[in-house]
Amino acid sequence: MIKKKGQVIRLDTANTTLVIKADTSEYVYYGKKLGNVWDFEAYVTGARKIVSAPGKSAYLDYGVVLENADGGFAADFEYSKSRILAEKPEIAGLPSSYGEGKTLEMKFVDAPTKVALYVYYTVFEDSDVIAVSSKIVNGSKKEIHIHRLMSLQLDLLGEDYKIVTFEGAWARERRRMEREIGGGIFVNDSKRGMSSHTRNPFVMAENGSGVYGFNLVYSGNHKETFEADGSGITRVLIGMNDFMFDWRLQPGEEFSAPEAVMCYAPDEDALSGRMHAFVCEHIVRGKWKKRERPVLVNNWEGTYFDFNEEKLLAIAKAAKEAGVELFVLDDGWFGKRNSDTCSLGDWFDNPEKTGGGLANLAEKIRAMGLMFGIWVEPEMISEDSELYRTHPNFAMKVPGREPERMRHQLMLNMADEKVQNYVVRVISDVISRSGADYVKWDFNRSLTDCYGKGIYPGEYFHRYMLGYYRVVTKIMKKFPFVLFEGCAGGGGRFDLGNLCYFPQYWTSDDTDARERISIQRGTSYGYPQSAMGAHVSASPNHQTGNSNPLETRFHIACGGVLGYELDMTKFTPQEAAQVKEHIAFYKANRKLLQYGDQYRLGEEGTEGYITVSKDKNSAIAVVTLTQIHPSAPLKTVRFKGLNPSAVYEVSQRGKEGAFTASGELLMNGDFPLRDMFDFETVVKNSGCVLSRMYIFKKLKA
Ligand code: GLA
Repeated sequence: MIKKKGQVIRLDTANTTLVIKADTSEYVYYGKKLGNVWDFEAYVTGARKIVSAPGKSAYLDYGVVLENADGGFAADFEYSKSRILAEKPEIAGLPSSYGEGKTLEMKFVDAPTKVALYVYYTVFEDSDVIAVSSKIVNGSKKEIHIHRLMSLQLDLLGEDYKIVTFEGAWARERRRMEREIGGGIFVNDSKRGMSSHTRNPFVMAENGSGVYGFNLVYSGNHKETFEADGSGITRVLIGMNDFMFDWRLQPGEEFSAPEAVMCYAPDEDALSGRMHAFVCEHIVRGKWKKRERPVLVNNWEGTYFDFNEEKLLAIAKAAKEAGVELFVLDDGWFGKRNSDTCSLGDWFDNPEKTGGGLANLAEKIRAMGLMFGIWVEPEMISEDSELYRTHPNFAMKVPGREPERMRHQLMLNMADEKVQNYVVRVISDVISRSGADYVKWDFNRSLTDCYGKGIYPGEYFHRYMLGYYRVVTKIMKKFPFVLFEGCAGGGGRFDLGNLCYFPQYWTSDDTDARERISIQRGTSYGYPQSAMGAHVSASPNHQTGNSNPLETRFHIACGGVLGYELDMTKFTPQEAAQVKEHIAFYKANRKLLQYGDQYRLGEEGTEGYITVSKDKNSAIAVVTLTQIHPSAPLKTVRFKGLNPSAVYEVSQRGKEGAFTASGELLMNGDFPLRDMFDFETVVKNSGCVLSRMYIFKKLKA
């Protein structure tokens, strides 16, 4: 709800309130929902600004930096007017949240240049999220340069925030990190042309009175700054990175920054729940929104590049027998791609490896009763490819310089419309001729050598993103029934921008259950489990060499969207039977596992999760023991999200018997993980992650 009384504007969600004082352009309050109060006069500080730009503002990090035709950087954005819009305005060329209309538009003007800044706040009542975006309109008679336009500027009271970020590297994504800003400045960003494995744009700022969560609906360079100003305020700037950014804006033109989102909650669990609800309801769209996702088998770790039709059909057959629903053919089916050194861009079938082509193979897979899925990496080009030989100018390279080759490949200049149209055409053709039900869209390197003929250098990074979004929009519009899964060397572009197109995303190239516990846990702070691709792979694991029982690998993969990524023909009869039982269990509980409310459980060493149905009548929990010590002290777990006044029957999967306990006890009592410390089990599984899955059923009153 957005309401205005005089100069006071209140934006209310189900559990939070944001108060803005329009004439002074000030944030007065953001936190727990307030009753029907309007008398905020005494709470006005005069310092918590909505806009900060190099003009009259204090010398804090600025949200807007413009270079005017007079050569100066000054911009005094004075409040002009505000209105409440019934329709949320689209952000031209960029993905954004949807499903709510009520939007506050605030206009600020720099009087000497007549350049206007618009800031938009959309209230998502159901998920307690407020989406914020900003736009510059050049009302002057001359070209201006935008050197920075942050989407959200928020001043929080206090300088003692703990900043929680999700950082890592390839195959080690989204590890939780904590730093106190302690009166200083903290920056989380990416300059890789992608949201990155290194630093995800989801960030939390915490102090004694709650948790603020921020994210950006964008897949390129981003920047989240938290700066204490020395006078008791922390300025939060969330938006596109200003690194190498210089956007020219002609008179009358406008420029929109991507949408940022913010959320307040009393604690981290509540914040995650709100972010999950927001993503499921207002980011993910199309046919696969809130729809149960198929169990897939992907041949990558099963075969890598070494496959032929016979091998693929054998895997598909074994997968079908186990209960898998979708077969995904990964890298290596096109051109002469038998290694990662060639053929990207040559999206024509290799008949030897696909039994005469994709159409034939897909037909045979479908005849087995499986859906067919295909891997592509559309934004890339190998120098050893037909495409490069015919169109070397499609590659992103700086003339006269040796380009950086990552994974032996170059990137396409997606900022160029010709290249975009080419990609739309060839990728659409792959989908049409295979009749694919699923597409895995990969992206295996970051942007370097940013250059495109005729493209102004300071605009390149963003123009690449606009090109990318134009291409995915066009392709996805043509194939509305296809399930698209995003991938970027694992989870390198796992962000809200991509989730607007890809209902699920490959979480990490590290498929080791031991590693996945923290990767999926880190991801779960800002993103729901229905967005996380999670596969059971071979043991010993190919990335780490760690071994883990099949049961543990399954338990961890049930924390996301279950898939298999190994040669399923290699199972012993015993393992095949076990996997069949696993998949049957998953399917029977899939709605709960994919769309229930998921909470993180335990602490380092005993991490796990519980997923609770919306009506709280059933739940599934997984707890793990990652480190085994002799004479180890007993570990315990407290469950979460249950109905405190209900009584549950709790059973351990695969074990006889059950016990009953009230939701209150299960959530407040310390449940002993006794059975995991049994000496025999420990020795038998030494070196492995032990795990247990518990099933909760509410007893009828
Ligand atoms: C990336 C992906 C993997 C696989 C390979 C294929 O690394 O993350 O899942 O598709 O590419 O080359």
